[in-house]
Amino acid sequence: MTARPNRTLLICNGMLHRLPRPTIFAHRGASAYAPENTLAAFELAVKQGAHAIELDAKLCADGQVVVIHDTTVDRTTDGSGRVGDLPLEALRELDAGEFFDASFRGERIPTLSEVLESIGRRLWINIELTNYTTPNDALPAKAAELVRHHGLQERVIFSSFNPLTLNRMKKELPRVPKGWLIAPGSWGAWSWRLLRGYISHEAVHPASQIVSPGWVTRIHLQGRRVHVYTVNRVEEIKRLLDWDVDGIFTDDPLLALQVVQEHAFDKDTEEET
Ligand code: G3P
Repeated sequence: MTARPNRTLLICNGMLHRLPRPTIFAHRGASAYAPENTLAAFELAVKQGAHAIELDAKLCADGQVVVIHDTTVDRTTDGSGRVGDLPLEALRELDAGEFFDASFRGERIPTLSEVLESIGRRLWINIELTNYTTPNDALPAKAAELVRHHGLQERVIFSSFNPLTLNRMKKELPRVPKGWLIAPGSWGAWSWRLLRGYISHEAVHPASQIVSPGWVTRIHLQGRRVHVYTVNRVEEIKRLLDWDVDGIFTDDPLLALQVVQEHAFDKDTEEET
């Protein structure tokens, strides 16, 4: 694979220069093949050769940091109710695998600590701080404390759609990189244009629908990386690689890695002819 030197990025985005370009983030783990946000999906991402996993962190009723995307357990477990109303003990009784396939029966909702412990020395971890309905809660402080406890300050990146959460995280762990998630639609792009000077972030994580070559260039000129979500189709992956994005979030790391390899081969062949 051809490595493209980019001096601006190397200087400005801190620890992120250690990530490969493009970085393949397994979105909620290898979630095309295993139940999202479970240890099974994260382990599979390791096996498939992803460079990083992405997960969703939030607080449960007794203040533990757990890994689950939705605000309720209804879609991904055999239980019901809001995560924020259920204590860890109750969450641990739920089955988080069978909704995906019977062969995953017995998978549990993991804690952030468990994922950091089992995956953190092998892959980078993108921790999305999903306290969107409780933006002033203790999630940034607690997630930062866990990262410190596991000594993974140089192996994680925090992301959030809420830019103020990123600023709070900067106070907790100033050197750990942060990715600002930009939602599709005009609101996302506008909030980025208006607020970017005030928000701590070393990477922009836009929805794929709003990315254009001009966007990528503008963000690169600021010395920031561009990690695009959530990209599962071959043609879309190829297009983003042509536009020189720095990483993609995908449910299917196996497919994305294959496309990256073929794309690099095609480019090398083009340059030789
Ligand atoms: O971090 C990328 C992606 O996960 C953001 O969207 O809805 O999957 O949290 P969502």
